[in-house]
Parts: sequence; C-alpha cells; structure tokens
Amino acid sequence: MVCLGNICRSPLAEGILQKKAAEAGLDWTVESAGTNGYHTGEAPHLLSQKVAKRNGIDISRQVSRRFKSEDFDQYDKIYAMADDVALEIKRIGGQKFSDTKVDYFLNELEPGKNGNVPDPWYGEEDGYTEVYELIDKACDAIIKNYLANNSKN
Ligand code: 4NP
Repeated sequence: MVCLGNICRSPLAEGILQKKAAEAGLDWTVESAGTNGYHTGEAPHLLSQKVAKRNGIDISRQVSRRFKSEDFDQYDKIYAMADDVALEIKRIGGQKFSDTKVDYFLNELEPGKNGNVPDPWYGEEDGYTEVYELIDKACDAIIKNYLANNSKN
C-alpha cells in the first residue's frame, strides 16, 4: 500500500486490509510506505488514527517509511493510491520495477479506471472519513477478487 507521505492514506489501507485478511483466514503480510520520505519515522496523521480507531482499528504503532526498490523483491502486489504515486513507484523501483506487480489500489473496485484516492492531507476530518470509507470498500474488493480468482472450484 503506497501513498506519498505514508501518514494519511496508506496507513489506513495497511490497517484495514490486515484486519480483513486476518478475518478471512488469509496469511498475508500487509505493509505500507510513502514515496516522498518527508514523514519518515512519524506515526500516522492523528485524524487517520482517529477514524481508524472509531472503526475498531489501531494504527497508532505504525511508523512511516519510504518506498524502496527492494519492496519489489519482498511483495507480490504493490498498490498505488494515485497517479503521482504510481509514477514514483516506477522511478524508485528502477531495475527492480515489475509492471505486473503494480496496480492502482482503486482498480480493485473499478477495474482499469486508474482512480485516485483523494489526498486528505490539507483537509478536515470529513475528508479522512470519506477516504476511510473508500479504502474500506477497496479492501473488501481486494479480498473478494482474490478469493474469486484463487478458489479451487
Ligand atoms: P498521504 O498524504 O500521502 O496520504 O500520507 C500526504 C501527507 C503528507 C504529504 C503529502 C501527502 N506531504 O507532502 O508532506
């Protein structure tokens, strides 16, 4: 789960998908990172923490880190929250970049649309609530699509 700062959107996606995967009995490692590194070492934004907590998810112990090319070695799937993030994932990935591993996060909800999760960074709490709900829906779609594509029948 990758956004710009790794303090607003992707920490929510990490917390939400970790919870949903565990509930679905899927043994996934779900992590998040940011492409710009401006907030490395920081906890998620207090409003992201607040909306997550309101929904029963504790993201307070997450620590912002920068996306790195080695993430292509470690992860099967890399989700970009927006256009600018997708471009940076390609640049930072360099020789390790793998097109088949990267997708827009919202393509799980609306395939092929390359939609952007709005950046709530400059806004008020309402923006964080809307972003939470959108990310929650996309995480449901990730699990649903995975189960549909990987069922044995
Ligand atoms: P995020 O939001 O990418 O959802 O974590 C942002 C947070 C900080 C900045 C940009 C986006 N920033 O440039 O500091």
